Amino acid sequence: MKNVLIIGATGQIGSELTMKLRDHCPGGNVVAGYIKGAEPKGVLLESGPAEEVDITNPQMIADAVEKYNIDTIYNLAALLSAVAESKPQLAWKIGVGGLYNCLEVSREKGCALFTPSSIGSFGPSTPHDHTPQDTIQRPETIYGVTKVTGEMLSDYYARRFGVDARSVRFPGLISYVAPPGGGTTDYAVDIYYSAVKGEEFKCPLKPGTFMDMMYMPDALRAAVEIMEADPTRLKHRNSFNIASMSFDPEIIAAKIKEYVPDFKMTYELDPLRQAIADSWPDSLDDSCAREEWDWKPEYDLDRMTQDMLVNLRKKLL
Ligand code: SER
Repeated sequence: MKNVLIIGATGQIGSELTMKLRDHCPGGNVVAGYIKGAEPKGVLLESGPAEEVDITNPQMIADAVEKYNIDTIYNLAALLSAVAESKPQLAWKIGVGGLYNCLEVSREKGCALFTPSSIGSFGPSTPHDHTPQDTIQRPETIYGVTKVTGEMLSDYYARRFGVDARSVRFPGLISYVAPPGGGTTDYAVDIYYSAVKGEEFKCPLKPGTFMDMMYMPDALRAAVEIMEADPTRLKHRNSFNIASMSFDPEIIAAKIKEYVPDFKMTYELDPLRQAIADSWPDSLDDSCAREEWDWKPEYDLDRMTQDMLVNLRKKLL
């Protein structure tokens, strides 16, 4: 991996992954691909090349790949689960149509391709505890439908055309840098903002709603490590369960209270998000990722909470 194109470089994952890859690939071009209205700013703009790359436009992807001699594409364009329910046609166009464009360009130009899948690729008929790597995937959200389709299409391109397509199923991602938008797991980011601002947090999910979550530094490391893993060891490709922590609103609130004793949480349920969260696993079994490419998380809830609070205080206060 030397010359990398990140599609969706100004989003929640992209804005941090672009910076990490610029450190990781010295002497290479790590291109921040953005869409109109979401142009890169500040250090993201100043530290390397940027190109307008709309994932629904295959020519734009091909032109950027050609111009910078790209060997690896990170496809991070997506609508998150709750917002996708209000725009299912657009979610399909970006999630599946966009992926198809990336796969075709990768096939033609010989690029490796990373496309995140998600805990959202599972549904109500999936075993909810220690969800296995290979299990039932019948999601009921359009977000999940695009993710399962993407997993299968990526494996098809790997088998049929030899495209080096790999991915991980991300848990809810928590970070103090770029906010997520329209996800079901976003409450676990918003709660830290409320705690640091001294505001009461209104939780959209009820107590007992467990989901897998992960701190962004672990997620970024996973995205890099899977693409650099020894292919001869990989029995799976699209997509690996990865996990680091699972909690419900009560557990994260109690953890925050250890460091912010005045913190208060009340409940104001969002029926859409609750239904989505109820259909997702409570905890994933990530043993295949551990065996096949030595995946190992570094952050648990306590370490993440301390880091989030320190950094959000710097950012907000
Ligand atoms: N964080 C995503 C969401 O909540 C799940 O992958 O939509």
